[in-house]
Amino acid sequence: MSKLAILGGSPTVTGSVSPFITVGAEERQAVCDVIDSGLLSGFYGSWSEEFWGGPKIKALETAWIERFGCKHAVSVNSNTSGLIACMGAIGLTPGDEVIVPPYTMSATAMAPLFYGGVPVFADIRDDDFCIDPSQVERLISNKTRAIIAVNLFGHPARMHELRKLADQHGIHLIEDNAQAPTATEDGRYTGTIGHIGVFSLNCHKHIQTGEGGICTTDDDDLALRLQMIRNHGENVVRDTNTADITNLIGQNYRMTELSAAVGVEQLKKTDQLITPRIELAEYLSAGIGGLSGLTVPQVRDGCRHVYYVWALRMDPDVLGISRATFVKALAAEGVRVSPGYLSPLYKLPVFQNRHAIGNAGFPFTLSDRTYENVSCPVVERLQNHELIMFEICAYDYSDEQKAQIVAAVHKVHDNLAQLQDLDLAEQ
Ligand SMILES: Cc1ncc(COP(=O)(O)O)c(C=O)c1O
Repeated sequence: MSKLAILGGSPTVTGSVSPFITVGAEERQAVCDVIDSGLLSGFYGSWSEEFWGGPKIKALETAWIERFGCKHAVSVNSNTSGLIACMGAIGLTPGDEVIVPPYTMSATAMAPLFYGGVPVFADIRDDDFCIDPSQVERLISNKTRAIIAVNLFGHPARMHELRKLADQHGIHLIEDNAQAPTATEDGRYTGTIGHIGVFSLNCHKHIQTGEGGICTTDDDDLALRLQMIRNHGENVVRDTNTADITNLIGQNYRMTELSAAVGVEQLKKTDQLITPRIELAEYLSAGIGGLSGLTVPQVRDGCRHVYYVWALRMDPDVLGISRATFVKALAAEGVRVSPGYLSPLYKLPVFQNRHAIGNAGFPFTLSDRTYENVSCPVVERLQNHELIMFEICAYDYSDEQKAQIVAAVHKVHDNLAQLQDLDLAEQ
């Protein structure tokens, strides 16, 4: 029996680890070329050829269309702005409800608020951590205008099922695909199954431009609306007087030529960047998968997981210790882990206090929905007791360190008895 590091034994994972650097010579050259051209942004906010952006924007959008097999790709300066643009593009109006998961980055649930929409939280599934279509169905009302589903941690939500549901009810399905580029469900890329998909290119994502995002759609009208919102579209309506779109207030969500040039190079490296993540995740899953009380990420039949996060589920009753103790023991062994992901979004003050815009409760006063007693038992259980995030995918581990991570989990698992006293002391 080896002594656990938390009790004074030696840590299992040794050596330092550096972040996984995803940009290199190609991106540097691409940025230099843009600087040499003098054109750092090719956009012009009124009706002209420049309304659609400069050469690098067009190159990125064309390459994105080819890669993901969609009809339109509209670049934006973040996934957040892309999600907000989606709300405008589908014509969300104050009081409309948008069903969202509570387990996601806040931007997913904030987007509707910008148009006076009211987010309604549907619980997630505990096998893929994504929104549960049966919970969505339960919450659809005559005020529901859209669903925003998130392909969390790199695994597809049940997108085809959600799309069917959305179509049956005549509402829009938006895919927040920030964490899942090249994930697939039944042969289709996530981000192309809903009416609009939104990708993130921020610096933490599989492929990046520092900040940035791409909206994908097969719908010509939605694409035009997204392009109008991206770039002061009210001027286009004034200048051309051709579009029958007059109720869109434009923003400035434009990506620079510099970012787009980086994006073109990153897109070429997509497989090169994502394949090692998948290999590492599968290695961990194979090494840890058989241990009692631990569940490694599940990949649904017909799906491809791209592992933005490798998340383990533990059953405290089976292990006989709390998650807090298990995580502390792993951390002491040198494994980078954290308990849970983000607190369910309905707990944010913006919802609990019903203060989004002004102090009179707008837009929440336009709906009967409340947030004090939201019933999402699955997300509460996962976040409070079961889910453990392994910070592996963003780091450049050696083969030896990968083996040590697996060995560290086995060591803690094999020596749970040593932790039980500690656990009791902590309660
Ligand atoms: C699921 C999800 N949605 C939205 C966002 C926001 O992306 P961005 O930083 O590109 O605005 C993120 C970023 O972490 C995310 O993970």
